Amino acid sequence: MSLPGKIVCIGAGYVGGPTMAMIAKNCPMIQVTVVDISQPRIDAWNSDDLPIYEPGLDEVVKACRGKNLFFSTDVDTCVAEADIIFVSVNTPTKTKGIGAGMAADLTYWESAARGIARVSKGYKIIVEKSTVPVKTAEAVEKVLTSCADSFFTFDVLSNPEFLAEGTAISDLAKPDRVLIGGKESDSGRKAVACLASVYQQWVPKENVVCSNLWSAELTKLAANAVLAQRISSMNSLSALCEATGADVQQVGYAIGMDTRIGSKFLNASVGFGGSCFQKDILNLVYICDSMGLKEVAEYWRQVIVMNDYQKTRFVHRMISTMFNTVSNKKIGILGFAFKKDTGDTRETPAIDVCRGLLTDGAKLDIYDPKVKEDLIRSELQLGKFEWDHPQAYANRVAGIKDESINVSSSAMDAARDSHGIAILTEWDEFKALDYEEVFKVMVKPAFIFDGRNLLDHNALRKIGFVVYGIGKPLDPFVTEHKET
Ligand code: NAD
Ligand code: UDX
Repeated sequence: MSLPGKIVCIGAGYVGGPTMAMIAKNCPMIQVTVVDISQPRIDAWNSDDLPIYEPGLDEVVKACRGKNLFFSTDVDTCVAEADIIFVSVNTPTKTKGIGAGMAADLTYWESAARGIARVSKGYKIIVEKSTVPVKTAEAVEKVLTSCADSFFTFDVLSNPEFLAEGTAISDLAKPDRVLIGGKESDSGRKAVACLASVYQQWVPKENVVCSNLWSAELTKLAANAVLAQRISSMNSLSALCEATGADVQQVGYAIGMDTRIGSKFLNASVGFGGSCFQKDILNLVYICDSMGLKEVAEYWRQVIVMNDYQKTRFVHRMISTMFNTVSNKKIGILGFAFKKDTGDTRETPAIDVCRGLLTDGAKLDIYDPKVKEDLIRSELQLGKFEWDHPQAYANRVAGIKDESINVSSSAMDAARDSHGIAILTEWDEFKALDYEEVFKVMVKPAFIFDGRNLLDHNALRKIGFVVYGIGKPLDPFVTEHKET
């Protein structure tokens, strides 16, 4: 199977940028161009300050950029010239209309498909890289056939991306699998083989898995749902551990030693975040609901319900432990990104925890090594999460003053004069802090609420801290939240 000469990717985001950089690195004979409608994003990809932070990304981009990797806003020309067109645009949850709050918003996808149809001639392979609802390829085909001229022929493939942020480059360099779904026709099979030949430049043949289109589309939603379900399962058990004196890390470790279960993704936490898990599960729930599969929809919905419960539980635990009030108390927030090694804050649990504390009158001092102040402030001002009852929450959010939030440039500054600190992201540097010094600069009793079970709790207790860890045996000082 001969390799394509030119590849274009529509969408220069967290997926499009790193994925194409990896293809360019491993396929020097292919010209790869990433296009986007956002000029600032493309300018950043062409600069020394890339628009996203990913360990190892700078090196890969710098090695290929200007040779066989290009970033451009000239979408039409690049699409017209390409043999393979990846579409990696955003597919967020719909915010209005039918399916609002649940279904995927395919506006960006449709606009990309219409653009492809407008400028394409000859034969092209269109690759769904974005996460999309199952059966999207059918809709894409309809748009392409009804809008393009008769000289344009194509195959649509589904090639969902499984990279995780923070480890994108290593995930792309050594993927557990590459999944390619295509039509079971001659042309479909040839298209699958062509795309497979690109990946096989660096991925072992046995790790490139082929399936039908609908299986590939559904696999992506299913994979994220199952991963998130493991976390929600451990988070549900963390509440039971706290009530009984069991330790969720010990339970998780012993469960994970069963080779049928495996040890990964069993860490109880303040809640999962990120742009994918919640969005993709809501999407799955919506699809099941629309197909009349109420019980199936309800089953997956619980994964989100448990995640919201965990965030609420964490805030309640903080407030009740700090003598039932955080009003006017300074609280240091260590970490705002949804996980370490990324500056991404989409759906980070920190948003909901911070809002819960602000609602109770706390003054927050936030530090994250990779998230800029503007982003933190704008995330906390958007009225997306309904903390309690929607109306009551909206009223309270409206009452939150900007002065309640300070963003610091070090963990020590965030901790200084605070009554408590909450670890919300598992950044390595928080493990290395000098907690003797942190203790000295805090108001006493000094509380640490470890939302990631990152720290050595016994060592902290020896220093004098009152410590709360998720799903850990409770300090006598840590109190139960009682609903009134
Ligand atoms: P993103 O928001 O970072 O990037 C999407 C880009 O597409 C934006 O820069 C936007 O300007 C651009 N865009 C939108 N419409 C366009 C158009 N018509 N023409 C040109 N550019 C257009 O999104 P992302 O995080 O890269 O996610 C992309 C897709 O990949 C989503 O479907 C997501 O669910 C999926 N995904 C994301 C991850 C992740 O870790 N972020 C992992 C796997 C899959
Ligand atoms: C996820 C999927 O892992 C990836 O395959 C998919 O392509 C995109 O969505 P991502 O959201 O980038 O990746 O990060 P991930 O490592 O999955 O973490 C998601 C959230 O779960 C984070 O907030 C993380 O802190 C949390 N998490 C993860 C836990 O709370 N406990 C765990 O055991 C693992």
